[in-house]
Amino acid sequence: MAAFDSLYRRVVLATADAGFVRHFVERHGWRLGVGRFIAGPDAASAVPKFLELRTAGKRLILDALGEFVTSEAAARRSADTILAAVDVVAAAGIEPYFSVKPTQLGLGVDAGLAHELAATVAERIAAVSGHLCLDMESSPYVDATLDLWERLRAGGQLHVSGVLQSYLHRTADDLERVLALSPMPAVRIVKGAYKESSEVAMQARSDIEGGFVGLVERCLAAGAHVNIGTHDERLITMLLASIDAKAADLPYEVQMLFGVRPALQDRLVAAGRPLRIYTPFGNDWYGYYSRRLAERPANLAVVVRGMFG
Ligand code: FDA
Repeated sequence: MAAFDSLYRRVVLATADAGFVRHFVERHGWRLGVGRFIAGPDAASAVPKFLELRTAGKRLILDALGEFVTSEAAARRSADTILAAVDVVAAAGIEPYFSVKPTQLGLGVDAGLAHELAATVAERIAAVSGHLCLDMESSPYVDATLDLWERLRAGGQLHVSGVLQSYLHRTADDLERVLALSPMPAVRIVKGAYKESSEVAMQARSDIEGGFVGLVERCLAAGAHVNIGTHDERLITMLLASIDAKAADLPYEVQMLFGVRPALQDRLVAAGRPLRIYTPFGNDWYGYYSRRLAERPANLAVVVRGMFG
């Protein structure tokens, strides 16, 4: 089963790279179920969804979709889109807690450019008392993302948190680097969503899960605010029991994706657990949507039904 999971994910992500597949899915996306995972084509149209989630007791992580831009001009356009979204969200009275992908701000073009744009975004978010999380992307960007995170914090942007992926062999060391920052930042632990080789990433589900638990426990032991980013009920139950057994005031949140396991989300809220929902919006949804399809065969079946139904 573990081998099937890994193979399925690699095949879906590789297929998603094919130009004709991308063209077709981008053209018919909303009919093929994109709306299940994306709150709307822009910030303003997504506001009703944000408010609905908030009314249901869920906090928000807002993601103005975009990634892997290949030019300075595109990175600047992306930054402008995020800045405009911060204004829309703040004006609507919604907590401006944002996540961005460093490559959407040009990390793949030039690290200096990404820093300039991320600092601008972080400043605008600070001005409205918000929070910025740097998502973690594919393995070639991990070093540069950690450098960017450190540089922003060294520049006084202490409201910037980040993400570490349990599937990477290197992550336990990266976590120590992050925990050495002063003051200690919040860290989201996830399993990892990209197509990675066995040289850089574990492939067996049990190893990735074991790594996940170890990283969360290490954050708890260090007193870091840990964001438990998973829909894996077994892991969530185990980690919440561990938190409960330690101390009442350990800083943590469970974080899940918009549209994924909503019944579990509701149960966590009903149980009084702090829950934040990663809620993307925007037109540049293809990469994000492909990764959601790659996580679960049933999601791909919806697309196939949409294509032939
Ligand atoms: P797992 O894949 O084991 O699934 C557990 C159960 O959840 C499944 O049985 C299924 O029921 C359900 N499920 C999971 N994914 C589903 C889906 N797409 N559709 C329907 N049901 C699904 N990754 C990354 O590399 N960098 C990042 O910055 C982030 N950021 C991030 C933020 C947040 C808040 C979350 C929750 C996740 C991420 N991720 C991420 C994605 C993460 O790495 C991982 O790919 C997904 O969370 C899927 O793994 P799970 O741990 O949820 O469990």
